[in-house]
Amino acid sequence: MEILKGKKSDTLSHVDFAALATRYSHVAVDIGTGDGKFIYQLARTHPDWLCIGLDAARENLVENAAKIYKKPAKGGLANALYVISAIENLPPELENSADSITVNFPWGSLLRGLVLADATILNALARLAKPNATLTMLFNYNIFDDPVPLELRDLPAFTLATVDSLMLHYAAAGLMLVERAIVGADVIQTIPTLWAKRVLLSPNAETVRLVLRRV
Ligand SMILES: C[S@@+](CC[C@H](N)C(=O)[O-])C[C@H]1O[C@@H](n2cnc3c(N)ncnc32)[C@H](O)[C@@H]1O
Repeated sequence: MEILKGKKSDTLSHVDFAALATRYSHVAVDIGTGDGKFIYQLARTHPDWLCIGLDAARENLVENAAKIYKKPAKGGLANALYVISAIENLPPELENSADSITVNFPWGSLLRGLVLADATILNALARLAKPNATLTMLFNYNIFDDPVPLELRDLPAFTLATVDSLMLHYAAAGLMLVERAIVGADVIQTIPTLWAKRVLLSPNAETVRLVLRRV
């Protein structure tokens, strides 16, 4: 699979990834990881976890993808990895690897797929997860006030009622709802990314959190 080292792309083979993963007690994967700060912080606070950020776009990741390969004294982290891929094309190396998956404030095809319960995206998440893995997602697309991006204009409002109508499709993919809640600033400010700061500053900061379990 393709990994990012600063601006450069590299390849990590199935065998090398499997060997790396066995050195850690837990594998955490953040989908649509944006600038990669969430994974950077997670890897720092959990040195015994392998923390992987996956995103289809590379530009915003360059800074953190360079930092993790520096010496430890300069911010280097051997337990962080940034993978370039759309979730729709989940690299086979990552299948059945994640103990926990996060999706924080998705947009684009990731958001559409999750809100419309697209089978390709739900099945990719299910394939990524180990049995019993948790999937925690934070949604807020109220922030896209005028002009709402074209690809999001037909999405339903993301209320708890919308969530309930979707869960049948998630369950069919093997993802069972454990918790759904509206969360506020106390939760959003635990996410260290630029996008989370943007959500916090918006008048529509109210965010829906879903926690699911892979069965
Ligand atoms: C709002 S941004 C960043 C969110 C980030 N988790 C944060 O908290 O800052 C949403 C991210 O989702 C990524 N994304 C959109 N569709 C995707 C897909 N199909 N697969 C992987 N990443 C995707 C975008 O490239 C973007 O970086």
